[in-house]
Amino acid sequence: MKPLVVTIDGPAGAGKSSVAQRVSRALGLRYLDTGALYRALAWKAIQRGLRPQDTRYIIEMARATRVELLPQDGEQRVLVDGQDVTEAIRAPEVANLASPISAIPEVRAILLDWQREFGRQGGVVAEGRDTGTVVFPDAPVKIFLTASLDERARRRHKELLERGIDVPFEQVKLDMEARDQRDATRHIAPLRPAPDAVVIDTTHMSLEQVVEEVLAICRARFTSEVPPST
Ligand code: DC
Repeated sequence: MKPLVVTIDGPAGAGKSSVAQRVSRALGLRYLDTGALYRALAWKAIQRGLRPQDTRYIIEMARATRVELLPQDGEQRVLVDGQDVTEAIRAPEVANLASPISAIPEVRAILLDWQREFGRQGGVVAEGRDTGTVVFPDAPVKIFLTASLDERARRRHKELLERGIDVPFEQVKLDMEARDQRDATRHIAPLRPAPDAVVIDTTHMSLEQVVEEVLAICRARFTSEVPPST
């Protein structure tokens, strides 16, 4: 039987990570934060002083980098060449470089192989921008989460403050808008819902409500996919 795959895509701050983590726990599936892969490479590029236009060096660096995602207490630790960068990759400057890096086709090809290999090892709840359109096009459940820009910026601002990162709200909103615009208009694997994705606008929903709705969709799809046991 094919592993169960749930994809959750959408713009920054739509609630993908929180929802995907809870859904993966509820269903007993592994959690795959694909944005962490792009952030991991961006983090290493920053250590090396690379800029977005240093495409050739970024590709070489990506080929020579070992990124590992290790499940830990229902969350995920991120290692780059053996070094734990779980917290470091959440910095705004890492997000800002991850976006242009993710528009480089060679980088996407490297990470696509990585993600599919992860998927071959068993069931997974994957979140990102193209997990339903490109990485796992045959996934039985595809969700696209969205919310108004103001609400997404408010959530991200709060999350950054909780991590001790104090960036003015307007700056968070401007960065987010620029990043979404770039992610949605790039030529390769742009941010958009798969034709068979269920789109959920979470602007006026609590986390619990979104998780319940996604789990209800999963239960309905999985029962229709999985033949009843005798
Ligand atoms: O979800 P995130 O904020 O951690 O993602 C960081 C960047 O990585 C985002 O700006 C776009 C890119 N990304 C991508 O291109 N494809 C994915 N599947 C996930 C993230």
